[in-house]
Amino acid sequence: MPHIEPLAGKGLESVRLADARINLWEGSVRSSKTVSSLIRWLKFVREAPPGNLLMTGKTERTLKRNIIDPLVEWLGPARCRLVAGSGELWLLNRRVYVAGANDERAQEKIRGLTLIGAYVDEVSTVPESFWSMLLSRLSLDGAKVFGTSNPDSPAHFLMRDYLSRASLWLDHHGKLLRSAADDRLDLARFSFRLADNPHLSAAYIKALSAEFTGLWRKRFIEGLWVAAEGAIYDMWDEDRHVIDIPPPITQWLAVAADYGTTNPFHAILLGVGAENDEHGMRRDCLYGVSEWRWDSRQKHRQLTDLEYSRHLREWLTTVRFPGTRLHGPIPEYLIIDPSAASFKVQAFQDGWNVADGDNAVLDGIRLVSSLLSAGRLKFSRSGCPAVIGEFPSYSWDDKAARKGEDKPVKINDHGLDATRYGCATSRSLWHSRIPLAA
Ligand SMILES: Nc1ncnc2c1ncn2[C@@H]1O[C@H](COP(=O)(O)OP(=O)(O)OP(=O)(O)O)[C@@H](O)[C@H]1O
Ligand SMILES: [Mg+2]
Repeated sequence: MPHIEPLAGKGLESVRLADARINLWEGSVRSSKTVSSLIRWLKFVREAPPGNLLMTGKTERTLKRNIIDPLVEWLGPARCRLVAGSGELWLLNRRVYVAGANDERAQEKIRGLTLIGAYVDEVSTVPESFWSMLLSRLSLDGAKVFGTSNPDSPAHFLMRDYLSRASLWLDHHGKLLRSAADDRLDLARFSFRLADNPHLSAAYIKALSAEFTGLWRKRFIEGLWVAAEGAIYDMWDEDRHVIDIPPPITQWLAVAADYGTTNPFHAILLGVGAENDEHGMRRDCLYGVSEWRWDSRQKHRQLTDLEYSRHLREWLTTVRFPGTRLHGPIPEYLIIDPSAASFKVQAFQDGWNVADGDNAVLDGIRLVSSLLSAGRLKFSRSGCPAVIGEFPSYSWDDKAARKGEDKPVKINDHGLDATRYGCATSRSLWHSRIPLAA
């Protein structure tokens, strides 16, 4: 953020009102929470009584990328300078400690400290223990903390124990609410939505909104603290996502395999193909062309890694190039879930070009959701019946949601897991041709 314009509207009002012990800007992505909170933080740093200052975030790396680098660019090195390797930042002639919250040393460091002020990037991503310790360190008279967050589950500690107990709330509509009830904290809450950032173009907002669907649309675009419940792929639509014959495949990306010995083993073959849209424009999509599945319980026999590797080869020789009489596509990679170490070794020895599956579950689900919403991921009806059957029933785990965790119920998800690794891990091969906006 090199050129910062003077704040207006909610941003300006939040800076004026942020005078509580705890001050939190929360809401939609890109809604100017960081810019507004930093402007307030700089004012605090300039005026704060003597005492230690801290800036923190999930990791030192994310803090540097999200906050410190833009600050240096914004203020110039004379007013903002990170002293390499020392964990110290010189900001407006004050020394500020810099530490990531995931680091044991950071916990150690703040355990002994008394603080007059702290800035926390993305509060919902720091451990609860770190946050409560931080609050206990802010013991000096006039000590304050300023932080930002995107919405998470309503059961997340930040909503449950803090935001819901604000004594001052500038809400999503810009209404100012105050409460002096007994359970209130000295906490100011500012709820931001995309419309609160006047620096985003309508086209950017449209593209951003299309990128997020389902749960993430509600949280990151609408700025709501909602639980992960119900169907995960609520945008799944057989009419839209299942096709009788895929178009010609221009790139065979990968076979992605969810490995199991007692659980089913599920492999799916993914390729890029082009269809024409209603205006006759070429439109690249990802296609699940064929799948191979071995359920050892159903078949009453477990396969060895060597047998799996051979079966995969045999299966591929039978797969047809869509719309032709030719067989035997050769995909660029075999993507294997990262826990399947022994199978990976075997596959490598058998000459497969092995890639480690990217198993960040929530990021992967978000990616598949975006692809489905944009109509850019489709499955062959005859080629992938099992994974097609898994889509509608894949749901969030209600029990976990009550504890504030977002996670899927682990049943009938082997084809979906393979699809998720497959799409996420091969992303660099297709992302320039397949935009995620609808
Ligand atoms: N006052 C301003 N002047 C110029 N640009 C601004 C201003 N406020 C916000 N922006 C622009 O909007 C972008 C998003 O703002 P900001 O980073 O504060 O959002 P955020 O709510 O923290 O988003 P996220 O949740 O993604 O971290 C900035 O990178 C910047 O480009
Ligand atoms: Mg931010």
